[in-house]
Amino acid sequence: MEATTLKFLDELLRSGRAHDEDEPDHDRQYRNVERAGAELLHLLVSGRPPGPILEIGTSNGYSGIWLADAAGEGGEVVSVDDDKGRSAEAAKNLAEVGLADRVRLVVADAGAFLRDQPDGAWDLIFLDADRSAYAAYWPDLRRVLAGDGLIAVDNCTSHAEQVAEFRAVVDADRDVESVLTPVGAGVLLIAHRR
Ligand SMILES: C[S@@+](CC[C@H](N)C(=O)[O-])C[C@H]1O[C@@H](n2cnc3c(N)ncnc32)[C@H](O)[C@@H]1O
Repeated sequence: MEATTLKFLDELLRSGRAHDEDEPDHDRQYRNVERAGAELLHLLVSGRPPGPILEIGTSNGYSGIWLADAAGEGGEVVSVDDDKGRSAEAAKNLAEVGLADRVRLVVADAGAFLRDQPDGAWDLIFLDADRSAYAAYWPDLRRVLAGDGLIAVDNCTSHAEQVAEFRAVVDADRDVESVLTPVGAGVLLIAHRR
């Protein structure tokens, strides 16, 4: 990653955290992934053959910039958020670091978006939105994941109770395997069982 991009990301995270501390309304917070979680995503994406990447939960584009950088030239990232204002902030931040052409920002409800996706469409899915909806997303998440794809779910340690139902659904699915990494806020990795 270019030093200027990293500097921009560090400042975006710092200002986002400062904003969140002063913002009591949870929905108005940026809630960016932790730096270590973002580094894990970067490593996972840059170490895989190029393929379409889906992010559920754009916020101001912090994690989207990490994903886009890792995707490299010609990489394809789609990031979905149901908040038009946040998506516009992400567009501005992606443009600032010259990565706007690698990310297609979609303003939509994540559940509706997932329902519309073809089978096996996505090589990596980063799930970082409304945790109470994840269990309901599961049938579509596993359907739209490519055969050798990977799902990364943030906040599985920091908000363990909120993802408990989702984790139970995943654990009960014998066609996938998963591991909870203690990185950042706890990133759960899920892949089809081979
Ligand atoms: C934790 S933030 C995402 C942080 C971002 N991934 C990052 O690390 O920079 C969660 C985002 O999910 C969005 N969101 C919540 N519920 C959603 C839904 N049902 N469909 C789409 N986006 C949703 C919120 O608007 C918010 O911007």
